[in-house]
Amino acid sequence: PVILREDYRPFGWLVPEVKLDFDLGLTQTRVRTELTVQRNARADHAETIRLNGDGLKPVSVSVDGAPADWRMDAGDLIVPLREDAHLIVIETEIAPSANTQLMGLYASGGMLCTQCEAEGFRRITFFPDRPDVLSVYTVRMAGPKAVFPVLLCNGNKVAEGDKGDGTHWAEWHDPWPKPSYLFALVAGDLVANSKPFTTCSGREVECNIWVRKEDLARTDHALASLHCSMKWDEDVFGREYDLDLYNIVAVSDFNMGAMENKGLNVFNTKYVLADADTATDADFDAVEGVIAHEYFHNWSGNRVTCRDWFQLSLKEGFTVLRDQLFSQDMRGEAVKRIEDVRILRAAQFPEDAGPLAHPIRPDSYREISNFYTATVYNKGAEVIRMMRSMTGVERFRQGTDLYFERHDGEAATCEDFVKAIEDGAGIDLAQFRLWYRQAGTPRVAVAQAVEGETLRLTLRQTVPPTAGQPDKQPMPIPLRVAVHSRSGALGAEQLVVLDEERQSFSLPLAGPDPVVSINRGFTAPVLIERDLARDDLVFLAAHDDDPFARSEALQELAVGHLVGAASGTLSDEEQAAGETAIIGAFASSLADNALDDAMRGELLVLPSETYLFEAMAGSGGTGERKADPGAIHTVREGLKAAIGTALAAELAALHARASAVALDDPAGRGARKVKTIALGLIAAADPARAGDLAAQQYDAADNMTDRQGALMVLCGLDHPARADKLAAFYDRYKDNALVVDKWFTLQALSLHPDVIEHTRALADHPDFTMKNPNRVRSLYMAFAGNPKGFHSADGEGYRMIADVILALDPINPQTAARFVPSLGRWRRIEPERAALMKGELERIMAAGKLSRDTFEQVSRSLEG
Ligand code: ARG
Ligand code: ZN
Repeated sequence: PVILREDYRPFGWLVPEVKLDFDLGLTQTRVRTELTVQRNARADHAETIRLNGDGLKPVSVSVDGAPADWRMDAGDLIVPLREDAHLIVIETEIAPSANTQLMGLYASGGMLCTQCEAEGFRRITFFPDRPDVLSVYTVRMAGPKAVFPVLLCNGNKVAEGDKGDGTHWAEWHDPWPKPSYLFALVAGDLVANSKPFTTCSGREVECNIWVRKEDLARTDHALASLHCSMKWDEDVFGREYDLDLYNIVAVSDFNMGAMENKGLNVFNTKYVLADADTATDADFDAVEGVIAHEYFHNWSGNRVTCRDWFQLSLKEGFTVLRDQLFSQDMRGEAVKRIEDVRILRAAQFPEDAGPLAHPIRPDSYREISNFYTATVYNKGAEVIRMMRSMTGVERFRQGTDLYFERHDGEAATCEDFVKAIEDGAGIDLAQFRLWYRQAGTPRVAVAQAVEGETLRLTLRQTVPPTAGQPDKQPMPIPLRVAVHSRSGALGAEQLVVLDEERQSFSLPLAGPDPVVSINRGFTAPVLIERDLARDDLVFLAAHDDDPFARSEALQELAVGHLVGAASGTLSDEEQAAGETAIIGAFASSLADNALDDAMRGELLVLPSETYLFEAMAGSGGTGERKADPGAIHTVREGLKAAIGTALAAELAALHARASAVALDDPAGRGARKVKTIALGLIAAADPARAGDLAAQQYDAADNMTDRQGALMVLCGLDHPARADKLAAFYDRYKDNALVVDKWFTLQALSLHPDVIEHTRALADHPDFTMKNPNRVRSLYMAFAGNPKGFHSADGEGYRMIADVILALDPINPQTAARFVPSLGRWRRIEPERAALMKGELERIMAAGKLSRDTFEQVSRSLEG
């Protein structure tokens, strides 16, 4: 059945208090649930209460002490209730170790843990499993002491004891009313890295990172990141933590990154464990970002939660923005912004242009797990960032203060958020609300004309049609612009807001030959369409005062050239001129001493193949041009080779200079980044030389960033060191699951001609299992994101991913469904590959007995 946003109705009952009693066992756990329920005066009168269940059987159900006259409706338990208040007691029995979906209560590496968002609590006990039912929880749990020495739950531990028979128990109380999706329980053999944090009002909070004993030495970064996040949220958003305890537990079997359960975050080990020997610089950043994200949810998500799941972006979009701003403050605004925009373009733009397009606040779903998307998260963050750009930082803060004050303790809506910003910041967002309703990436066409002392900038927006939304209205699009002069004079920046279909703006000229720098800092998540002269782009790439705009100009230059080359529309002359311009721009980035290496690295990266597909396929509705993955790969590799050849000496010098920087040098991070980028460009031009250098880099490495970078380059080559280093790497790290994941990923992502055979062989490796989501992703998500392997012209890549979906669906439907979008992009791909992709989707559909997750994604991908 399809759930519609407009069908929302308040629940008939309030559940002010919940008492849970767990008798824990890995194979069998008994749950006794006590619900205090009261009629909800704000809802329609109800004769029954519907308690959601998924795969549960009630052992007993009583109301006010007497056996109840219950019935089942699909998985749900329906209990008749006559009075205005009742006490319902239910007993259920569940089997954690048989839970391969990893939703609800499940076993992971000998411990028990939970994942309840969005609808996992109903796999633990019968309950109104919807985010607008808020309750105060008291939880008692008991279990064998040897198996579960540590017993954790939300809130504070209020009592514990030993039964003297080898079992012990603990009782936890969470004073903050919360929806069931924020419930969590962990029981296992864990140790903690602890350090208290003193809040702005002087309260001391015990902070613990719980892991298996052998992982303890890799938890310092997570703990430090937590402390930084707590401080930052006080300073920047005025948010103080509200319990005396903050627990984070790392588990190795987890469907997603992490979960913000009140006072007891559960994390994928990938986003907790890090040290220089086993984690790359990017891994360190990811740990910091996810720790911050989950911490920030304590206010944007927990204190103020969502009324229903259509409002998911209320907490996710806002929290992603908050974690992005935090990371910008921790390690530099420009590079972080460039990275975030790259992610948006690689993951969200294709979503917006394909059959799975949906607004950041969707109108309907079958399975809510399918809507934890780049659109809801990342575009959701961009939409709120636009409000912030329009109001300015101070007024935006007044808006968020009002939001937290008005809605603390409530289950709110996206509309509530917009209204609070409107009132608190003093801005009219009437038309802006369209960003919540309309899907699709707007396109902004730019034209310019000099008129006396000013430049007349004419902008035209189109919002492309998307599934179920054929006609769109113009939206307010805030764009920071500056008009520079080719004489070298830089123009001042100003914000223009395009809120009609077509609009002109008069901007002052800084000097002769104006060059427009537009969407600086990526103020709006749109595609800019313009035909800027190559020389103007080269000028911006070298001289723009906004570092984001510099990297953007280079991307624009490369996209124009590569799409033209892949479409076969460039004359030999244009081809040569484009290549020369790009090589020239790379040469200036290599030579520019004012750049630090972290930023230099951004300027030496070509646009991703996925983004080039989007650019080549043009606008969804009208563009008859299709993306040709084979041609794009060939021309992009060709350009890398041309750069590597022309700048061989400079790249080798860069590699040598960067290799001399020590691990703990403040410049080390940037050096490590450019080191591997240089290797990659050298590899495209001179594989033998690059192989030698990579082998040296591998041997010299005293950190994972260098080691993984060297191995990545080697993996794409037929060099004698390839097999040696892969074997050495495996041997060194075979007991570390997260590093073994890297070993799988490196091979599945590689540019090697035999990548399909390699990937297929890895599926038979003894360390491969379909039961562990990290391992599945390390092999197959990597492969699906490897354009060379996945888009292999014979369709073998598509078949492999379809086989994975079919094999994984009965085990872990949520993870299986995540593979569908890669095949779902068929409509924008050239006809031969498109037919193969569609054929695989049809094969999955025909297999029947699909989960709701996979069914929804495949059927939408075929309709769209
Ligand atoms: N709320 C979690 C986070 O962003 C993610 C939960 C994902 N749930 C899901 N069913 N995919 O931070
Ligand atoms: Zn989140």
